[in-house]
Amino acid sequence: MTRIAVVAGDGIGPEVVTQARKVIDAVLPGVEATGYDLGAARYHRTGEVLPDSVLTELAGHDAILLGAVGDPTVPPGVLERGLLLKLRFAFDQYVNLRPSRLWPGVTGPLATVKPGEVDLVVVREGTEGLYAGAGGSLHRDTAAEVATEESLNTRHGVERVIRDAFARAGRRERRKVTLVHKTNVLTHAGSLWARAFAAVAAEHPDVTTEYQHVDAAAMFLVTQPQRYDVVVTDNLFGDILTDIAAAVTGGIGLAASGCINPEGRYPSMFEPVHGSAPDIAGKGVADPVAAVLSAALLLEQLGHADAASRVTEAVASELANRAPGVPLRTDEVGDRLAEYAAG
Ligand code: NAI
Ligand code: MG
Repeated sequence: MTRIAVVAGDGIGPEVVTQARKVIDAVLPGVEATGYDLGAARYHRTGEVLPDSVLTELAGHDAILLGAVGDPTVPPGVLERGLLLKLRFAFDQYVNLRPSRLWPGVTGPLATVKPGEVDLVVVREGTEGLYAGAGGSLHRDTAAEVATEESLNTRHGVERVIRDAFARAGRRERRKVTLVHKTNVLTHAGSLWARAFAAVAAEHPDVTTEYQHVDAAAMFLVTQPQRYDVVVTDNLFGDILTDIAAAVTGGIGLAASGCINPEGRYPSMFEPVHGSAPDIAGKGVADPVAAVLSAALLLEQLGHADAASRVTEAVASELANRAPGVPLRTDEVGDRLAEYAAG
């Protein structure tokens, strides 16, 4: 039986996760889902962010479905580092998968791009780079203050995420991988990435490759997002580029992500790219599509490709039929998606 841990979290997290669970139940009845109370509310109540006992329990599940954590009342970094990054590192979720599609029916901000033309996936390295936590500071709050933040890149870590990107490209129609870095300035890390990329590319003659500096990629994601298929990049570049990709494909309410341990040694975690949206929390107007598409990635990762594609088809139908300007209701969208996906 499939066992899922559900971390609904804060703000709109519980609202959108409820819809994602409805849809999972519709396509894969009998999934055992266990809720875990983590996030800003628990932090305020008990001071705990992610107790080791909870980490151990989470490790016993097949996957984790997460809504969003965070609240303006929690100091920056506490939940991001203490919960999200801790899970990514502890469960070796080295593939941070972020697909972006401009769905038919969705109006993006770009006049040059037609619905259906953008279908790309960013494979962002998830456990190294500038997010590894290597650094320190001295003489804090004095004029002599020094702070360092180092980017860690290992051959092992870089090569395995590049391998994942090539494997994904091999299963897609266009079979193209773009490496994004800044090899002309970040020459140490850049050289490692470029050599690992060339080595893996040599094993995949059927996959087309290209390289772009990250500043150029930021521009092309806006001017020609159609050109991308699979993009592989480091942790920080991937974080920034995926926000651009989300923005040009209809916004944060539609953007899904997975933090994946491809070998399945640890549970992978699936979550919408958006946060807890305190400005609309409790109003029942959050778009649950990002959470539902994250659930589709979860199903796909657990080997339920059929169930996953039924969810994706339900989303396609929902978005194609949305009347512009009509405000949505979170639970009504969830009901429609679950009904459509159930068939
Ligand atoms: P946010 O993504 O929560 O909200 C940004 C804007 O997008 C807001 O105007 C919000 O109303 C809107 N929005 C977000 N999701 C939406 C949805 N599903 N439907 C319709 N509109 C939606 O980002 P923000 O405001 O910067 O952060 C709020 C809190 O969330 C902070 O505490 C932040 O740390 C946390 N956060 C957590 C993340 C996570 O759990 N992975 C990711 C990003 C932020
Ligand atoms: Mg981000």
